[in-house]
Amino acid sequence: MTDFDAVHERRGTGSSKWSRYPADILPMWVADMDFPAAPEIVDAIRSRLEHPMLGYGVARDELRARIVEDMASKYDWLITADDIVFLPGVEPGFNMALKAMLEPGDGLVVQTPVYRPILNAAGHWGLVRNEVPLRATGQGYVMDVGPLASALAKSRALLLCNPQNPTGKVFTKDELAEITALCENNDALIISDEIHCDLLFDGRRHIPIATLSDETANRTVTLMAASKTYNIAGLKTAFAIVQNKDIRERFAQSKLGMVDSVNILGLEATLAAYAHAMSWKEKMLGYIQANRDYLSQEIASRFPAIRLVKAQATFLAWLDCRDMDLTPDPQAFFLEHGKVGFSAGSEFGAAYGGYIRVNFGCPRSLLSEGLNRMEHALAKR
Ligand SMILES: Cc1ncc(COP(=O)(O)O)c(C=O)c1O
Repeated sequence: MTDFDAVHERRGTGSSKWSRYPADILPMWVADMDFPAAPEIVDAIRSRLEHPMLGYGVARDELRARIVEDMASKYDWLITADDIVFLPGVEPGFNMALKAMLEPGDGLVVQTPVYRPILNAAGHWGLVRNEVPLRATGQGYVMDVGPLASALAKSRALLLCNPQNPTGKVFTKDELAEITALCENNDALIISDEIHCDLLFDGRRHIPIATLSDETANRTVTLMAASKTYNIAGLKTAFAIVQNKDIRERFAQSKLGMVDSVNILGLEATLAAYAHAMSWKEKMLGYIQANRDYLSQEIASRFPAIRLVKAQATFLAWLDCRDMDLTPDPQAFFLEHGKVGFSAGSEFGAAYGGYIRVNFGCPRSLLSEGLNRMEHALAKR
């Protein structure tokens, strides 16, 4: 079983996270965890390599059947194997959906702050981005229905992120019902990025928005992957679930020679993750939930000027540093003076330059080191 406390050297392995900065910087940015993949996954890849032919891949029936079964057992969601479209990533998936279903000039709603490729997607297809901010409360982030309704009234689609990156918000069933009602009223397509769906804390259960009703399923493209949960994002494998045949065909056609077949080892890894690595996932979730709690406590006691709403899911924390007046901005400040590389808030929306996103999906000692580096940077001020 994986020792989640163990620190592994990742420099020199072609890791994007550990290559961005010089060796004296501790990277805590991209959503990639510093844990080895589950042994069951590594074994599955190794055993696939026993057959040394690595031509173009296609998902085996076993993988489709496993996903169908998982959707039923986890979410009471009855899909068929044909509803699944395999993809080299969730980001290509939401861009394909926009390309397939919208026309230049159409409006697209996104809730901010949000993962930069979601924020930027409208721009790739000549769409008008209609941003609706989420609001921090003591109970977590909430959405205001009025602004969402106004934005949807002038849009053809919503690009939802649930669980949400960077706030760690999990949308409740009531919120999802409000969203689906508004999308129905406006005949809007729902593209739902649910890549973080297996990373919920405190016993919460993920609800795929497509499960709200048949009507909703009929207008929704859901995107999922094992990549975040099992730390196999470099294997570039994800999938869409599209129950509406017309949308699915248009979606699949929008590959347009740009989105090629899926990584053959990624397909094996995904099957092994879902079929055999459940207990690894439970252990990992316990570990990152404890990291989240540790981070929240340390921020509250050591940096009381930073505001943090505890993440309900994901291994990402969204820190509001606006009261600290760090120049030129908190990300650059901590990078220069603390030698720790967080994600800059401005990546998640123009209004969020005073925030940073911290990746706590790492051994506790690295998280603790990151906090010490923050403290050191502030002490030098
Ligand atoms: C919300 C969200 N969607 C999509 C992605 C990227 O997914 P992929 O690598 O499958 O394109 C990420 C990665 O951080 C993410 O956080």
